[in-house]
Amino acid sequence: MFEPRIVCFFCKWCTYAGADLAGTSRKQYPPNGVVVRVNCSGRIDPQHVLWAFREGADAVLIGGCHPGDCHYQDGNYKTMRRISLLKRMLEDFGIEPERLRLEWISAAEGDKLVRVMDEFVDGIKKLGPLTLDERPLPKDRDFVSPHASGAKPGGSKSKKSGAKKTTRKKSAKAKR
Ligand code: FES
Repeated sequence: MFEPRIVCFFCKWCTYAGADLAGTSRKQYPPNGVVVRVNCSGRIDPQHVLWAFREGADAVLIGGCHPGDCHYQDGNYKTMRRISLLKRMLEDFGIEPERLRLEWISAAEGDKLVRVMDEFVDGIKKLGPLTLDERPLPKDRDFVSPHASGAKPGGSKSKKSGAKKTTRKKSAKAKR
C-alpha cells in the first residue's frame, strides 16, 4: 500500500512544540512525515518546498504560529501570501495544490497536529504518489541546497578575515 512521504516544515515555537506535545502525550499519528524544524514559518522559501517535491516528497506540510502569535511579528503573514502564490505555481508544474498544506498549530495543540496529520496523509493517499514526470521543477543550477556537499559555510567570512589580516599587516608596516 502506498505510504506518502511528507516533508513537514515546522516552526520551532509552535507546531514543532505541538508535535512534541503529541509525542509526549503518547498520541498516535501517521509516521509519514519528516520534520524540518525552522525558526519561523516565514523562513521557508518557496525554493525549499520545490526542492522537497523535486527530491521525492509526495506532499509538504507547513506548520506555523497562529496569526498574531508569530515570534517575529509578521513571519506567518508572509508565509500565508507566499503559500497562496506557490499553490498557483504548483498547478503550472502539474502538481496538485492539495499536496501543499499550511496549518497554524500552537505548542498547546497536540490534538490538532494529530488531526491534521491524519487528514493530510489520508488525502495524499487518495491522490497517489507524485510521479517523476510531474516534476519539471527547477534544476540544480537554479537552487543549491544549503546542505549540499561542497557548500562552504562561512566561506565569505574567511575572505573577510583574510582582508582583516592584510589590513593589520599594512598597519603594522605603517607603524614601522
Ligand atoms: S515564529 Fe512561528 S510562525 Fe513565526
